[in-house]
Parts: sequence; C-alpha cells; structure tokens
Amino acid sequence: MTSTSEAQLAAAQRQDAGAERVLTVALLGGGTVGSQVARILLDDAEALTARAGARLELAGIAVRNVGAPRDVELPRELYTTDAEGLVARADLVIELMGGIEPARTHILAALRHGASVVTGNKALLAQDGATLFDEADANDAELNFEAAVAGAIPIIRPIRESLSGDRITRVLGIVNGTTNFILDSMDTTGAQFADVLAEAQRLGYAEADPTADVEGLDAAAKAAILASLAFHTRVSLDDVRCEGITKVSAADIAAAQDAGMTIKLLAIAELVADGAHGAGTGKGEGVSVRVHPTLLPRTHPLAAVHGAYNAVFVEAENAGSLMFYGAGAGGAPTASAIMGDVVTTARRIVAGSPGRAGTATRVLPIVGPESITTSYSVGLEVADQPGVLSRVASVFAQHGVSIETMRQQIHGTEKAGGAGAAADKDPAGRGEGASRAELRFVTHRATEAALAATVADIKNLDVVESVTSVLRVEGV
Ligand code: NDP
Ligand code: HSE
Repeated sequence: MTSTSEAQLAAAQRQDAGAERVLTVALLGGGTVGSQVARILLDDAEALTARAGARLELAGIAVRNVGAPRDVELPRELYTTDAEGLVARADLVIELMGGIEPARTHILAALRHGASVVTGNKALLAQDGATLFDEADANDAELNFEAAVAGAIPIIRPIRESLSGDRITRVLGIVNGTTNFILDSMDTTGAQFADVLAEAQRLGYAEADPTADVEGLDAAAKAAILASLAFHTRVSLDDVRCEGITKVSAADIAAAQDAGMTIKLLAIAELVADGAHGAGTGKGEGVSVRVHPTLLPRTHPLAAVHGAYNAVFVEAENAGSLMFYGAGAGGAPTASAIMGDVVTTARRIVAGSPGRAGTATRVLPIVGPESITTSYSVGLEVADQPGVLSRVASVFAQHGVSIETMRQQIHGTEKAGGAGAAADKDPAGRGEGASRAELRFVTHRATEAALAATVADIKNLDVVESVTSVLRVEGV
C-alpha cells in the first residue's frame, strides 16, 4: 500500500521529470494566427511548461519570405523557408499556413514520423480530413483542430468529448464572421449587399477576394467538420449544399424585419431520421449538411449574434439546446484555440498515452435536398389586379405546399415600360398607370423538390413579373 506522502513524492518526481522534458515545436506559418501563436509560446513559456508538463521549445517558424515585414516582433533567427527540415525534427507541429498544399504534405510527413499535429486549416480538413485522420491513427499520433471552426470558440472539444456520450441531432451555426458582419450591417443600415461588402473591405473585415466567405465556402468547410464530429461519420466539403449571401437584397432584409425576423448565413448539420431520406437507403439515419441564408425569428438566440461574431447552437437528445458564442476569427482569439490544443497534445505526449482515434465510427448516407423539409419565404413581384393571389395560391396547392402567411405591399402606380423586369414582361397587357405588388409567402414545411416545382410554375404565370427571393426559414 502506498502512503499519502509516498504518493505525493511520486507525483512531485513525475512533475520534476516532466519539467525537464522538452518538446520540439515546429510552427508552419507566421501570419495572422501563426505570429500570435509564436508570441504566446515565447512570452508565456513558463506558465505553458507548468501546464503542459514539458518545455515547449519553438524550433522555428516556416514562412515563404523570411525577410517580409512582420506585425509581431519575434527573433528573426526563428524564421526559415525549410518547413520540411523543421517538421522532421519536431515532436509537435502547428500548421498555420492554410490552403491544401504544401500544408497537407507537411502534416502527413509529421504524422508519419509520429509527431502530433495541431492545425486551424478547415479547408484541408474539409477536403481531405479522412486521409489525415487515418494517418494519425496509423501512427498513434494526435491531430487536433479546435481553431478550424469558429476561431476562439471551444466547439470541437465539446462536440468531440463533452457530448460524446449524448446523441447530437442538429448543429446550427453562424460560423463565418465576414458574412455575419455584412448581413448585420444590412439589417442595421438598410444598405444593399454590394455597398456593405465594400465598407467591410475598407474596414478590413472582408478580404480583398471575399469569394470564399460570401459564397458560403468557408462556412461549408466548417459545416463539414462539425457534421463529421457531431454524427461520428465522414462528411466532406463535396457533401455540403452551399449557397452564399450575394443574392440577399435590402428588400429581403426589410421584409424579414417586417415579419419580426432577421437573415443569417447558417451552417446546418442535421441527423435525418429513419424513412425521411431517399430511396436506396431504406432504413436507419442519414445526414444533411447545408449552408444558406436563412430567415430566423428575432427571438432566436442566433439572431442576437451581431457584427463579426460567431455562434454555434447544438441540439442533443439529453443535453437539450446548447449555445457557444465568441470571436470566430482574428490572430489572438484563434491563437487561443491553437494553444489550447497545443497544451492538451503536449500533456498526452508527456503521459505517453496513445493518440486519440478519429471519431468516425460509422458511415451515414448524405441526404439530398429533395428529402429535407423546411419552411420557405418566397417573394414575388406581381401585377396588382383581381385574381392574382388566387392563381399564385393555387400553384402552391397543386404542389402540396401549404401557405402559412402572406404579406402584400403595393408599390404604387408605375408606368408600363418602366425599368427592369416590369418592362420585359407586361403582365396581362397592363397599360399606363398599372401598379405592382410585392407578395411574400411563408410556407409550412415542404420538401425542396416541391418548393422548386412550385417556384418554376409560379414564374410561368403571366401575372408574375419575377420571383425576387426564395429563402429558407428556421426556428419557427
Ligand atoms: P496568413 O495568410 O496570415 O499566414 C499564412 C502564413 O503561412 C504566412 O506566414 C506565410 O508565409 C506562410 N505560408 C503560406 N504558404 C507557405 C508555403 N508554401 N511555404 C511556407 N510558408 C507558407 O494566414 P492566417 O494566419 O490567417 O491563417 C492560417 C490558418 O489558420 C489557415 O488555415 C486559416 O484558415 C486558419 N484560420 C485563420 C483564422 C483567422 O482569423 N485568420 C481563423 C481561424 C482559422 P509569409 O508570411 O512569408 O507569406
Ligand atoms: N474568413 C473567416 C470569417 C475567417 O470571416 O469568419 C475565420 O475562418
């Protein structure tokens, strides 16, 4: 039997031994996030040693251009272009280069020689995560990626560990700060998308090439990662249906406000129950993962996420609804998430325990949009004349799409032959003085296939000038 003092002595000896241990850390990338990680590694070395149980020795920072001016002042001798050499002698590699190659090659090389890896690279994980996890498993190494989704917000570890004994059914997230900033500004100012994007670029919120953000691709990569973890299956970027925010207009935002709603770009990952998905799968569960602008009631917790902030709403069978909120990007906030992974990984290396296996324990089918039901908001420009409403409503009915609410706004008198679509299509031979109406329908839940067929037929009605928007509605 071991006495308390012996146990304390043994623990103290282990701690002493740990304090002597040195882990060689290779940092790949010294940009926005990498420079902050290097700063923390150097400035907080003593505290990190105590927490990790080993000294984390920064062996070097791999960059493209060692002579480039840097915002964070770090010892110049740390910079190198020899990423390969740095990786070869590392116990722990922090990958913050971004992109697919050469990041992928360096991560695989690290894992193959048994080094563990911490990365924030959502693009790579969403595209080829399976290869990386298989390599980590094969080499008893660990691959951690808390920073890859929602920057500083702890969301990967809660899903991967804290909720691993629960059954997550749905994850809804605002996981892209740039688009949330744009939609929030449109909501506040009433401005159009293009004007707000230009302002966001001027303020440095949006990148010079904002495509990945505004087209929803950045959010889609994060959605794939969240879905894989939440549902213990493998979901890649190609499995995510993605629609960005470029078509969201000031009129859509104003109509949403009138209806007590707001528009957010949501990443939605859902477990779809038995029988709800298409033929061929027959039974069991499927997964739906999508990113699109979404109407949310202003009372929904995600509606209160303003500016460039992120939030992830998780629904689990036993835990109920959980919300995680915070800074989704930025050098120091993202470096915080990276450093959490670094300390956790270092502790595992010091303890000599094997790397955690990947979390994909099953293969679930990806459910197509034709089988997903949701509510929709459909905006139309129509001629303001008798019988229009009933003709439009009958098309909804023909396709089995039930209308929940309808709002109408008369645009006043406009001369036929005026601007845009009204001039192209003069419904029912209207002459001078004809007025137009904007109709906004909100439907009950319907499949995307039924809604698409409805919209196609509505467009063909001679009294309809244009379908101005089709937005999904959540949280009602
Ligand atoms: P940056 O573009 O600011 O930095 C990239 C760094 O990697 C630079 O130091 C660059 O070198 C170096 N680098 C790029 N390619 C190579 C190469 N081929 N060889 C050697 N070095 C290379 O990126 P961020 O810091 O913003 O992002 C890093 C990662 O973190 C990305 O995966 C990103 O998605 C992720 N992330 C970023 C967030 C953010 O807020 N910025 C938030 C969450 C995740 P050089 O300096 O010489 O150009
Ligand atoms: N471009 C991303 C955003 C950065 O706007 O949220 C973090 O991944």
